[in-house]
Amino acid sequence: MVLVNGMAAQVTTQRLRQSEVFRPTDMEHESQQPSPEYGRRRQQSIFVRGLGHMVSRVPIDFSALEERARRVMTKRGFAYAAGAAGSERTMDANREAFDRWRIVPRMLCDVSRRDLSLTLFGERLPTPLILAPIGVLEMAHAQADLAAARAAAAERVPFVFSNQASVPMEKCAAAMGNGIRWFQLYWSTDNQLVISFLRRAEACGCRALVVTLDTPLLGWRPRDLDLGFLPFLRGMGIAQYTSDPVFCEGLAQLRIEPTTDPVKPRNNLFHFGARWQQIRRYPGSLLSNLVSRAPLAAVPKFLNIYSRASLTWKDLAWLREQTHLPILLKGILSAEDARLAVEHGVAGIIVSNHGGRQVDGAIAAIDALPGVVKVANGRLPVLFDSGIRSGSDMFKALALGASAICLGRPYVYGLAIAGEHGVREVIQNVLADFDLTMALAGCATLADVASAALERVV
Ligand code: FNR
Repeated sequence: MVLVNGMAAQVTTQRLRQSEVFRPTDMEHESQQPSPEYGRRRQQSIFVRGLGHMVSRVPIDFSALEERARRVMTKRGFAYAAGAAGSERTMDANREAFDRWRIVPRMLCDVSRRDLSLTLFGERLPTPLILAPIGVLEMAHAQADLAAARAAAAERVPFVFSNQASVPMEKCAAAMGNGIRWFQLYWSTDNQLVISFLRRAEACGCRALVVTLDTPLLGWRPRDLDLGFLPFLRGMGIAQYTSDPVFCEGLAQLRIEPTTDPVKPRNNLFHFGARWQQIRRYPGSLLSNLVSRAPLAAVPKFLNIYSRASLTWKDLAWLREQTHLPILLKGILSAEDARLAVEHGVAGIIVSNHGGRQVDGAIAAIDALPGVVKVANGRLPVLFDSGIRSGSDMFKALALGASAICLGRPYVYGLAIAGEHGVREVIQNVLADFDLTMALAGCATLADVASAALERVV
């Protein structure tokens, strides 16, 4: 039995007929009227709809969410999103490490009203949740970044535009109204392109710059390798480049150099299909793309310049001179790097191991968090991602000293299943869970969460 609007309602576990399954498009999203009651309102709306045998097709449990996404995504798309580096042990370790931390709830703390808000880089945010930068979202859903941007804005959650987005940042920004957005940069070998990205990010209202440091090269990812699939080679996930005046300058005149690679692609129908995809995905009309060299020149040019493996700490001074935006370094896992980050005057750190996609065998991100927080010592905010699947994971990371949390794969799966509404549901579910966990653990504010007790079990 549960109580809904004061009435007792029978909740049965009988199978729901497909026609009765609740479609997100039918949804009247409760957070359209902002309320601090994230938990109770969400629970109530789910249970009330359940009375009419309407359930969402976006599962709440992460394993079910991932499984449903697997069923709707292409094999390659799912492998790209769900896969990680090497044996994938670091991705698993991210989860196992969360499981070793246990919350110690406190009683009689007056949790009748919870305040989940915080100030980050001078901006008041209603909750400590942010959507992480995720590239190539077109493999999850045709509306890709646009759907995620709209969902984030509607739920009042900041969205970090990926450097490898499928939709140019200007289009996403236009769809977000006043919604808070940041831009994530992969530092190219071409400084003029970096400057162009920064100017564009500033012009479209991004409030912070996230520089991802853990991807000077792509990790060794067996799922993608087994399928021989890299989305960028098909012109996917390079929209920030193909919409950029500096990148596109001279592209149509560029000679497509014969590859020096001893392995040449077979000139068969599949290869032709891949080239066709590059042409089709390039901005502009199909006709102009068929006669221009630009669409086929874009991919090799991108591959040549996308990342600068020679970067050192000294280069940060140059970047700081190029923008007034607060700079966050993403991918910090060691206390020593945290010390260097503070020394080099960055505005924030994101503790992350890229969801286990880069270094197989790397430390679990949540295990790296306390050491980084200790070094930061309140001088700059430390954000966290890698392994967040629920509100209680959020609680644990905040209790270990994170200022805010970036959500990754769960929203990609919500997007795959139900587009913008799917992302909104995932956000609502995670926030509802977090709000309830706060209340049940005896916390009314994020300051209470920060001082909440966690116990580590072995
Ligand atoms: C990512 N991530 C990522 N990070 C980044 O800085 N730029 C990017 O373009 C991408 N792209 C990307 C694609 C996909 C499919 C995934 C799963 C991840 C990493 C992302 O920002 C974040 O660090 C991880 O998603 C966190 O791990 P979990 O919690 O999603 O497992």
